[in-house]
Amino acid sequence: MSPVESPESLLNGDRHVKRRRNSTILNPRSYVTADLWKQAPVLKGSTKFEPLPNVRNILVTGGAGFIACWFVRHLTLTYPDNYNVISFDKLDYCATLNNTRILDEFPNFTFEQGDITSPSDVKKCLRKHKIDTIFHFAAQSHVDLSFGNSYQFTNTNVYGTHVLLERAREHGVTRFIHISTDEVYGDVPIGAADLSETSLLAPTNPYSASKAAAEMMVSAYRSSFKLPLITVRSNNVYGPHQFPEKIIPKFIMLLQRRSKLLVHGDGSPTRRYVYASDIVDALDTILHKGAIGQIYNIASKDEISNTDICHRLLEIFGARHKTPQEFQRWVQHTEDRPFNDQRYATNGAKLAALGWRPKTSFEEGLKATVDWYQRFGEVWWGDISRVLTSFPVVEGTEIWTKEEHDALPSDEELGPEENGTVWTKKALSSLQASGGTIA
Ligand SMILES: NC(=O)c1ccc[n+]([C@@H]2O[C@H](COP(=O)([O-])OP(=O)(O)OC[C@H]3O[C@@H](n4cnc5c(N)ncnc54)[C@H](O)[C@@H]3O)[C@@H](O)[C@H]2O)c1
Repeated sequence: MSPVESPESLLNGDRHVKRRRNSTILNPRSYVTADLWKQAPVLKGSTKFEPLPNVRNILVTGGAGFIACWFVRHLTLTYPDNYNVISFDKLDYCATLNNTRILDEFPNFTFEQGDITSPSDVKKCLRKHKIDTIFHFAAQSHVDLSFGNSYQFTNTNVYGTHVLLERAREHGVTRFIHISTDEVYGDVPIGAADLSETSLLAPTNPYSASKAAAEMMVSAYRSSFKLPLITVRSNNVYGPHQFPEKIIPKFIMLLQRRSKLLVHGDGSPTRRYVYASDIVDALDTILHKGAIGQIYNIASKDEISNTDICHRLLEIFGARHKTPQEFQRWVQHTEDRPFNDQRYATNGAKLAALGWRPKTSFEEGLKATVDWYQRFGEVWWGDISRVLTSFPVVEGTEIWTKEEHDALPSDEELGPEENGTVWTKKALSSLQASGGTIA
């Protein structure tokens, strides 16, 4: 892979991408070429349970996104004679139908494009497919973006969840499994005990606040309407198929391009990481053995700082990183998030009692992830160059670097036919000043 040498070269990327106003528009419907796609491994979980008699038609919201696509592949391929799987997704900027293309020929798989904030989309889908079980993943999931476009997070994560709950109540379902996050607990000081499911929710950023608010609505529907709900709070998840806005795939793709790793702040915050196939096993376990009305943490012991992620990836890529000088050659510290929790720490004893254990070590999972991105990362979503910059700005499926977005002319300055691909001088110079490539 050739290095990114200048911002101009960023503009000459993937053939699937159309651009307007110095941006990239990603197309979640564009498929990678068949010869390449056929080389992609079919990734899923490893568990298989006795199918449940009252589960037949399972709606998975956000099914073209990262975690849900793993789960959709797992359910479709593991229970072909028992469960029909309906992937329901708006196809936002981070989604791609490449994630479930392998399932297109399977009779127990269907994709429906729809928006969870549209009561009519949801109602139509529940009726058409006689849905009895819902796994609700769809969300705005990227914390960085929530500082800039928080209304979108409240709309999708809170109102969208409310719409699903209300439609599920009217329609009637036997199980509704709501996917939440460890971030709802807020920061856990170093040395404090791991938090159990009964701990207080204390979110600190608009993303985690929207997820906590959604949980309040879930709790209300559980109490008021006896909707058969289960809530799941997972640690950070990583692995193939994750949109490269999140730290691990982003850093892999930057190293792949021989570019510097853009580390927010001092790099000291830690997160606990679960490999994607392990969360799939956890969700399969919760579907088949979890108790209605309960909350389950999905918890890992692999607590890794952002700086440590850099070191581990540099090691895998064979780049010298042991001395501070060697390390700094590959790392650029950028401004931090407006607020950044230092760590999250949850206790997974309740789910362990159902028999779930993570099977993939962080070393193993990271190597498998690097391998996948080296083969498919540059083509899977289209041109991700702008995604790989510090704090990109996203509107719909359109993406700018922060510098480009700051320099965008106002709508009045833009002619109606404006279709430029030329970077404004201001955007170009601030981008060049902000990010280096390795000489
Ligand atoms: N990734 C993690 O580390 C992590 C950790 C804990 C919890 N979670 C939660 O897991 C869920 C999935 O996360 P992910 O990382 O796979 O997300 P993702 O961003 O990869 O995927 C989200 C999917 O939801 C879809 N979507 C967005 N808005 C929609 C709408 N209005 N209607 C229908 N579909 C819509 C998108 O198109 C996309 O396919 C989220 O609820 C997230 O909060 C994620």
